[in-house]
Amino acid sequence: MLSPLIQSWQTPKSGIAIKYRATPVTTAQISIVNPELRYPNISDLERKAQKRMSHVAWEYLASGTGAEEALERNTEAFRNITLTPRLVTGNEQPDTRVTLFGQQLDIPFGVAPVGLSSLMWPKAEAILARAAVKAGSIYGLSTVAGASIEDIGKITGERGWFQLYTPRDKAMRHDILKRAQESGYSALLVTVDVPTGSRRERQRRAGVAMPPAITPRLIYDLITHPAWSLATAKNGAPRFRTLEQYASAEDLSDVTSFVGRELNRPTTLDDLADIREHWDGPLLVKGVMTEADIELSLQAGAEGVVVSNHGGRQLDIAPAAIDVLPKLAQICKGRATVVYDSGIRSGADIVRALALGADYVMLGRAFLFGVGALGQAGGDHTFKMLREEVINVMIQLGCDRVADLPDFLA
Ligand SMILES: Cc1cc2nc3c(=O)[nH]c(=O)nc-3n(C[C@H](O)[C@H](O)[C@H](O)COP(=O)(O)O)c2cc1C
Repeated sequence: MLSPLIQSWQTPKSGIAIKYRATPVTTAQISIVNPELRYPNISDLERKAQKRMSHVAWEYLASGTGAEEALERNTEAFRNITLTPRLVTGNEQPDTRVTLFGQQLDIPFGVAPVGLSSLMWPKAEAILARAAVKAGSIYGLSTVAGASIEDIGKITGERGWFQLYTPRDKAMRHDILKRAQESGYSALLVTVDVPTGSRRERQRRAGVAMPPAITPRLIYDLITHPAWSLATAKNGAPRFRTLEQYASAEDLSDVTSFVGRELNRPTTLDDLADIREHWDGPLLVKGVMTEADIELSLQAGAEGVVVSNHGGRQLDIAPAAIDVLPKLAQICKGRATVVYDSGIRSGADIVRALALGADYVMLGRAFLFGVGALGQAGGDHTFKMLREEVINVMIQLGCDRVADLPDFLA
């Protein structure tokens, strides 16, 4: 006898019987189209993004510097950080809100500035900016983004933070700050951990350059990643839209060199003083890993720091950023806001960084894995997934408020 789900059908003329399975639409089938079931964590999105994005864009996003030891250390270090639950007084609805610089945010994490995000997927900056606003969070726009200060400012308003690589040219520097201020960004991140260009060997091998050289390898790359190639062709090749107005025609023929020459340089105390004078609002120094740099940043008038090793993209012999966080958070206590990024790949990692003293957490690659994997839907999906996990972990711990997380360190 046939099982209830197996049906049989006989062709009228030949009399051949065909047996087939008449499965009702089940949750399992729906999962084929529902990203929440199909990509329930960042690793799933990472795998999908790698398949979907062109090789050159993938290498730009995923690579670290040198032998990628810092990149690996950043994620490995999280595994040994444990928190212990205290359940009897637990609460079913923990409060995930945090207040930074007088602004209330619904969740304690947001999007770190990532240069040329639109190389990873067209309009990635706008996709993630909208998702951040919807999630009641912050979007960090890079100086070297593929979208302009003004276009993203219209989406984010005060939910945007602008990241500055300090240009050598002071007129350009001051004009960029004025544009960011007029576009409504509520805080400025001054990145200090790119004192020179990084040796990213994978990027060299993959031929990452702006504009890209048209080689047989690039053509093969485009043909073998049709979804990315079609989307990119439809929207046009990514450009440095904030910066291109400062570049001469000659500079535009080799924008990578222009950006490197103008922006990849050590930041001095004079630079910070000059920026402080031209930026009216909270200023955070990004890429800080030592007590000495915290003291100098605060001396220069910063209200906060971003503890970060640039996601392992600059100095390969740097410690894991999470390993220096507890000491630096202690030094900043009551004096400055501490934002953390580098190596975060889950809601549990967000909770760990908050427990170790961060006031707020930013993620770079994780959000771009989301957009690379799912395009337009990737921003909201990644926010929702991480938010649900943060809430779940807080309930599992028995923690009511973000500020109480340090009490649960093992
Ligand atoms: C592809 C890529 C581009 C980046 N571009 C910038 C940038 O333009 N400015 C900046 O301050 N940081 C930049 N970062 C560093 C991020 O802001 C952040 O520090 C880092 O991604 C955190 O590590 P995670 O990727 O492990 O989350 C970039 C990171 C990546 C992965």
